[in-house]
Amino acid sequence: MKFSIALLPGDGVGPEVATEGVKVLEAVGKRFGHEISFHHGDIGGIAIDKYGVALTKETLAMCQRCDAVLLGAVGGPKWDDPRAKVRPEDGLLGLRKGLRLFANLRPVKVLPMLIDSTTLKPEAIRGVDLMIVRELTGGIYFGRPKKQWQTARGRKAVDSMLYSEREIARILRVGFEMARSRRKKLDSVDKANVLESSRLWRQLAIELSQDYPDVEVQHMLVDACAMRLIQRPADFDVIVTGNMFGDILTDEASMLAGSMGMLPSASLAGVPKVGGKTFGMYEPIHGSAPRRAGQNIANPIAMIMSVAMMLRYSMGLVEGAQAIEKVVSDVLEQGYRTYDIMEEGKTQVGTREMGELIAGMVT
Ligand code: IPM
Ligand code: MG
Repeated sequence: MKFSIALLPGDGVGPEVATEGVKVLEAVGKRFGHEISFHHGDIGGIAIDKYGVALTKETLAMCQRCDAVLLGAVGGPKWDDPRAKVRPEDGLLGLRKGLRLFANLRPVKVLPMLIDSTTLKPEAIRGVDLMIVRELTGGIYFGRPKKQWQTARGRKAVDSMLYSEREIARILRVGFEMARSRRKKLDSVDKANVLESSRLWRQLAIELSQDYPDVEVQHMLVDACAMRLIQRPADFDVIVTGNMFGDILTDEASMLAGSMGMLPSASLAGVPKVGGKTFGMYEPIHGSAPRRAGQNIANPIAMIMSVAMMLRYSMGLVEGAQAIEKVVSDVLEQGYRTYDIMEEGKTQVGTREMGELIAGMVT
């Protein structure tokens, strides 16, 4: 089969990890006999420097013509001024909105050989295998009004947490479907004791659960969920939640796995189907890590596992996805580590070496 992939390396360590992701994807293409072409675009700070905006219309259109998008990371101190008119993050938000990527999947799995590389007790995190489904194109990140203004008694600012029934129902469906394909447990996370948008969320979750009698649903308040994620993380299977709650909970959950450098993500324009061809964007959940950039030390595994998710959900190539996942676990089993997951007695390697080890074993 033939595939075209939009490649947006972005800023900081983005280009370094993206290079390794491409190597591994090419190795999969070779092994399974697929032809993959890459179409390069700029996103984030580098696009601001070149074109004055974080995402150009041309780049967005190029992404739309491809089968999927592979993204490195955006941002850095150079573009961090809170008074700036344009920000690297606008590029990311623009892509999510422009490509209608409403469903963000962030799996967190604790690998047995990395159980000692986290700050949490091994017995607390053993067996953790959860998936957070975050709504990505609505809620308080996009709702209007959204502004700052001057009043006689000082400045004011407002953001709006706005959700329509349609937006909530479609992300809840992704949560239910995901739970159905896994251990059939769904936690719908909201703040229904305070927020109207959460009360609508919870009502819709109750209504939709009628269609999924095989899935066990629990409604959980976001603060309680934050606590449970640290206390008993292995209890969770699928969590479905809104944009901001999902943003916060996914950073928290990532720490269960020891390093953000291990965790992939998918942002999809439809309900995901394993082996399906839903359009999506794939990126590591870590940021651009400007202080680590250009040193060949960043962990490329999050990027490489994002490539595996792309094979599974946008390219219909489940075998390729499984091949990558197996090799990543084999390479770790053999004792290779990047700096972020390094432990005594293991072999420390750089970004490029880790990518090459994995690509070499995939072929
Ligand atoms: C994420 C990031 C983004 C978000 C930022 C960079 C806009 O934190 O993908 O979680 O908040 O969605
Ligand atoms: Mg975030």
